[in-house]
Amino acid sequence: MSEKRVAVVTGASRGIGLAIARRLVAEGCAVVIADLDQEQAQQAAASIDPSGDSMGIKMDVSNYDEVAQAVQQIRERYGRIDILVNNAGIIRRGTLETVTEEDWDAVITVNLKGTFNCCKHVVPIMLERGWGRIINVASIAAKLGDITSAPGYGPSKAGQVALTKTLARELAPKGITVNAVAPHAIETEMSAQWSDEMRQRVIAGVPMGRLGKPEEVAAAVAFLASDEAGFITGATLDINGGTLMD
Ligand SMILES: NC(=O)c1ccc[n+]([C@@H]2O[C@H](COP(=O)([O-])OP(=O)(O)OC[C@H]3O[C@@H](n4cnc5c(N)ncnc54)[C@H](O)[C@@H]3O)[C@@H](O)[C@H]2O)c1
Repeated sequence: MSEKRVAVVTGASRGIGLAIARRLVAEGCAVVIADLDQEQAQQAAASIDPSGDSMGIKMDVSNYDEVAQAVQQIRERYGRIDILVNNAGIIRRGTLETVTEEDWDAVITVNLKGTFNCCKHVVPIMLERGWGRIINVASIAAKLGDITSAPGYGPSKAGQVALTKTLARELAPKGITVNAVAPHAIETEMSAQWSDEMRQRVIAGVPMGRLGKPEEVAAAVAFLASDEAGFITGATLDINGGTLMD
């Protein structure tokens, strides 16, 4: 049984997830980087945690059985899972005219069903110890719809927020909190795909006049994962430079 708290962060080989994983290591956790490519996940784990307590694992969050198997492997190695960060997410751009059924299904399946799959298999392990923290990385698009034209993305994130509230209510008496963060426009490979014109348009809409940093999302996630956030559940924390205040 690991003496450290064990955090599973999905989609953490790069971008926001990697920043979250790095921060949770700094907070004293053993972190499991769960991503599509085993080797990249392992390299990422080694790069953030020289102690060797963290690991990478291949886990496609959209595949129910693969998630079950990966979670079982994590349990065998550590004997516990304390923190789950559902960060893995994809976006498929297009208009209603150009987006395909396959685009829609892929986005909903990774972003929304993936969150369900991971909660489904990890929560029973949290229940054994009666303590857990689940943080879902949603998006400002959950509230506004997507501003860069991606019809499935906003609905997938809005569904993730509704799932956050549903599970928060169910798990509140059992020692597990479930919260979401809703970032806007963070500097990662996802936002690097934007044209200069789109980048300037997005920045113009942010009162702080800049994109956010992955570390700023990681700090919010680390807080929600901490003991100090023990009375917060079902919340969605905005990380958006003042873009939306609701
Ligand atoms: N970058 C932004 O501006 C921004 C803003 C708001 C919300 N978000 C959300 O933050 C999260 C991380 O975004 P990012 O910008 O770091 O993205 P990214 O594309 O840089 O990284 C996403 C990671 O998820 C992994 N992944 C994709 N599909 C997966 C699957 N089926 N199973 C497991 N892993 C999978 C990828 O391999 C990659 O490592 C996403 O949920 C995204 O929707 C991002």
